[in-house]
Amino acid sequence: MADRLDSPFELWAQAEGVPIIRGHFVTNAYEVPLKPWMRNGGLAAFVILEGGEGFGSACICEIPPGRSLNPEKHLFEERIYILQGQGETRFWSRVGAPQTVAWQEHALFSPPLNIWHQHTNTGDQPAKYLAVTNAPLIFNIYRNPDFIFSTDFDFEDRYRGGPDYFGGAGKMVDSLTWAGGFVPDVRKPFLLSTAEYGSGYEVLQLALSGNTTRAHLAQVEVGTYKKPHRHHAGAHLIIVEGTGYALMWQDWDKRIKADFQKGTIYCPPEGWWHTHCNTGTQVVKQVALKSAIRGTGKIYRSTLGVTKGGDMLDRDEEDPAVRRLFEEELARKGLKPA
Ligand SMILES: [Fe+2]
Repeated sequence: MADRLDSPFELWAQAEGVPIIRGHFVTNAYEVPLKPWMRNGGLAAFVILEGGEGFGSACICEIPPGRSLNPEKHLFEERIYILQGQGETRFWSRVGAPQTVAWQEHALFSPPLNIWHQHTNTGDQPAKYLAVTNAPLIFNIYRNPDFIFSTDFDFEDRYRGGPDYFGGAGKMVDSLTWAGGFVPDVRKPFLLSTAEYGSGYEVLQLALSGNTTRAHLAQVEVGTYKKPHRHHAGAHLIIVEGTGYALMWQDWDKRIKADFQKGTIYCPPEGWWHTHCNTGTQVVKQVALKSAIRGTGKIYRSTLGVTKGGDMLDRDEEDPAVRRLFEEELARKGLKPA
């Protein structure tokens, strides 16, 4: 379930005076009505989905053309995916020289923890971004916005202002994980295919800016769906391109079906089975912005079949209804499974 409506995070969010969108998914982030947000000087709406469960939440922000948002730093971690427009973000702290990163639609980055940052729209159209944070966790522990937004502490173990921090190429830190500060375009990474996920699914795990919350880039090939799996709360998925649907269920008869397109955000609750299904004619590309904390403390093994003790449904383990629904959805569009 979502965070309690009287939790410190919820009370803070409700007092910020911007719309709050709830549910299991948002059909189109680009069409969510935004209102002025005094704190950051732009327009915003909070997206507090059921699957955030006090570990993560999202925010959609707009920067008017030619304007800068207010500078901020904070003790929660944030991943920023650029939905539209072009601009730049300046980062500074008491350590090292300031850095500026230019971005445009499809860029992804994460301000290092508690580092000052300020976003500027350098284009002549509104710029929009999706931010996914672990703010609920931090607010529910410390309960004090002044502490969260005004603490002077430099996490030098994470950031020392080096010139290559955002501009560098990053590096692979294990066979599936890239570590770095800035992804210029999430549609153009190299992706790694692993047999466990099912043919037609490729992924690249991301460790951004020394933060503990993780992300991954994934694509689902035409005519395929990812093997159903389950894991911790707080993973927010945003569709970058392609069409299809996500299924999320604890009880199959009460399943949630989120038809998706560019701009759809969805968030499977802790332990719910879910799968990503491509029913279009182009590859589905999506970004997952995940939590770091292991929800209830359970260890999920989301790439191991359930009969081997894991938390994934191999093709011979899943309910035939999953595949039947997929084939029906494809047939309605005159398509066949790959
Ligand atoms: Fe997942």
